[in-house]
Amino acid sequence: MSSQNIYILGIESSCDDTAAAVIHNGRILSNIIANQKIHEAYGGVVPELASRAHQQNIVPVVHEALKKANITKEQLHAVAFTKGPGLMGSLLVGTSFAKSLAFGLNIPLIDVNHMQGHILAHYIDEDGFNKPPFPFLAMTISGGHTQIVRVDDYFDMTVIGETIDDAVGEAFDKSGKILGLGYPAGPEIDKRAKLGNPKAFKFTKPKVDGLNFSFSGLKTGILYFIQNETQANPNFVEENINDICASIQYTIIGILIDKLKLAVKQTGIKHIAIGGGVSANSGIRQALKDGEQKFGWTTYVPKFEFTTDNAAMIAIVGYLKYLEGDFAEKNVAASARLKI
Ligand code: KG4
Ligand code: ZN
Repeated sequence: MSSQNIYILGIESSCDDTAAAVIHNGRILSNIIANQKIHEAYGGVVPELASRAHQQNIVPVVHEALKKANITKEQLHAVAFTKGPGLMGSLLVGTSFAKSLAFGLNIPLIDVNHMQGHILAHYIDEDGFNKPPFPFLAMTISGGHTQIVRVDDYFDMTVIGETIDDAVGEAFDKSGKILGLGYPAGPEIDKRAKLGNPKAFKFTKPKVDGLNFSFSGLKTGILYFIQNETQANPNFVEENINDICASIQYTIIGILIDKLKLAVKQTGIKHIAIGGGVSANSGIRQALKDGEQKFGWTTYVPKFEFTTDNAAMIAIVGYLKYLEGDFAEKNVAASARLKI
């Protein structure tokens, strides 16, 4: 990488987190996130409320990111922003703000694909974290995405598998809702799974050909299972909550690992990098470690703050594109369904 002194501001506003980060060459100087608590009451993200909250948050969040990085906006070389995919109203706030700031400062504007951000977050310089060598397989698992991508170079990526319905994070969250857990339920299921027996209950894994995923059938299976069991015993959930969580998590991890094994078999690539909020799951981390022992994989999990939606991952993509002189046109527009 270049030894120049490059400062890039990254802005992320694709879903319900307003985030800004400053990267100096490959190293993150600040990574600020304003989470939107308002959605918890609704058990999911409400797009209209998200875009309004972004409008309120964006100026203070960017201000904080510059302050924490100890630089002024005049020191920036470029502004990178999430072009998509995501919620249109949310994307528009970040896009408009980034455009105005870049034009005001007369510096390049760089559009970033959020999904590439999750993957290239592995290239942030961070002590104790290795960067995956090309080619590698990237599995992005979060509340909004479930994808396996073959990565041959920074910007040479091919999606080889993705969900045909719910994302894996939604599988955790919707199962949690059935069990009466709060939103998002993933962390709570993870915590309870550690105390339960993963083989206590058996849930059917979906049959989806190739490397694609499906999670909506699992959610329905869990719903019917709980309805049946509570008819016989109204306290069933309460009495078995840890075992239920452990069994659900075990099933979901099984689905992910089966697809990874198939992807490795099809591509011959054994370097596997994961990202997205669900990669915080302790069971998945353990399963990946086991994969190193059992199948000779080398696995990469980024620092936690770079796995959930964040602007550091947008800033690193901005930096890599800056080095290639790959800038956005003035009329660049947000794109809710942007593909890799
Ligand atoms: O990446 P993220 O913060 O936001 C997006 O969805 O883009 O991911 C949030 C998702 C939620 O579905 C949440 O339940 C899940 O990640 N999650 C977890 C864990 N921590 C967060 N799922 C399972 N185990 C966890 N420890
Ligand atoms: Zn994301």
